[in-house]
Amino acid sequence: MNAQDGYANFEVGYDIPAKPGMDAADIQTPCLILDLDALERNVKKMGDYAKAHGMRHRSHGKMHKSVDVQKLQESLGGAVGVCCQKVSEAEVFVRGGIKDVLVSNQVRDPAKIDRLARLPKLGSRIIVCVDDVENVAELSAAAEKHGTTLEVLVEIDCGAGRCGVTTSQDVVAIARAVEAAPGLKFTGIQAYQGAMQHLDKYEDRKAKLDAAIAMVKDAVQALKANGLEPELVSGGGTGSYYFESNSGVYNELQCGSYAFMDADYGRILDKDGKRIDRGEWENAFFILTSVMSHAKRDKAIVDAGLKAQSVDSGLPVVFGRDDVTYVKCSDEHGVVDDPKGVLKVGDKLRLVPGHCDPTANVHDWYVGVRGGKVETVWPVSARGKAY
Ligand SMILES: Cc1ncc(COP(=O)(O)O)c(C=O)c1O
Repeated sequence: MNAQDGYANFEVGYDIPAKPGMDAADIQTPCLILDLDALERNVKKMGDYAKAHGMRHRSHGKMHKSVDVQKLQESLGGAVGVCCQKVSEAEVFVRGGIKDVLVSNQVRDPAKIDRLARLPKLGSRIIVCVDDVENVAELSAAAEKHGTTLEVLVEIDCGAGRCGVTTSQDVVAIARAVEAAPGLKFTGIQAYQGAMQHLDKYEDRKAKLDAAIAMVKDAVQALKANGLEPELVSGGGTGSYYFESNSGVYNELQCGSYAFMDADYGRILDKDGKRIDRGEWENAFFILTSVMSHAKRDKAIVDAGLKAQSVDSGLPVVFGRDDVTYVKCSDEHGVVDDPKGVLKVGDKLRLVPGHCDPTANVHDWYVGVRGGKVETVWPVSARGKAY
């Protein structure tokens, strides 16, 4: 279902912030808007890059949590499928028709393993990460129970400092166990170096990725020496995809934030020292907010506060303006410094959120805008799916 055919009876403001065909000026705030031209350019650019470098791109759906955005990444950007972090997200993408789904995470709770093992029955390829031999037996039992096949990537901790094994011997031991387990298929390696993605300097990111690539190469060699050929070697994000693409060992990227961009990612620098939101990627994702009070001459109060965004990576930046600054927020209020008193009640601002993923997760809808008109309204389909 999409907004064009499914939400005809929805009331703007009560059920939904906007409807297709409306003037962008009439969108109810606060809400998320997508600049569709910018989004499409970002998606196409990453798709073209991956293709030119012989890489598969499995776009990360943890960022947008939207079946519609994922479908755009597949149709326009050539994405081969989606990554997600939770079984509940995987369920949303499978039910939404996405055919190739990687849960780039560990699943250990028996109830969740059972749900995961059911998913291939709906017609999608399901891949999951493992970093513990015991988990192999758990997944195998569930897949056998449901008569399905779960594919497995052995996860390497190549510097992120979260899940994943750290030696090639462990990689081989788990891969062997997977190969021997009924209902499972060894598909390759998951190696995402998440800790370096936001380092400002290109050289600092490169040094961390060089170390990660060396670990992954060693693991792949060890697997091959044991007759285990990995079909997928998967990883990479917005701050690193060029390193994985030129590594000679990775063959699949998992980039997420590039499509929307946010204020925190935008600050990192490309190899020429230029911010990545000043050329490499465009801001396509905004919180639209309205001024609701200007009782003090130098302060505008807007309707997007903490409940409209995540500020874990810093406050939002007012897009396209250097005369006003978003300086603090409480639950339902944002305070904007307006030293010259240029704003008035009812004015709308586009905020670039500090961190796109958790900001998307607190909204129901994306309002897609082009040429001053609302073109589409997409649900944040996996909003709140954290289980
Ligand atoms: C496993 C994994 N892969 C890929 C990504 C996407 O990274 P980015 O948003 O930096 O492109 C993430 C993001 O945290 C992740 O956790």
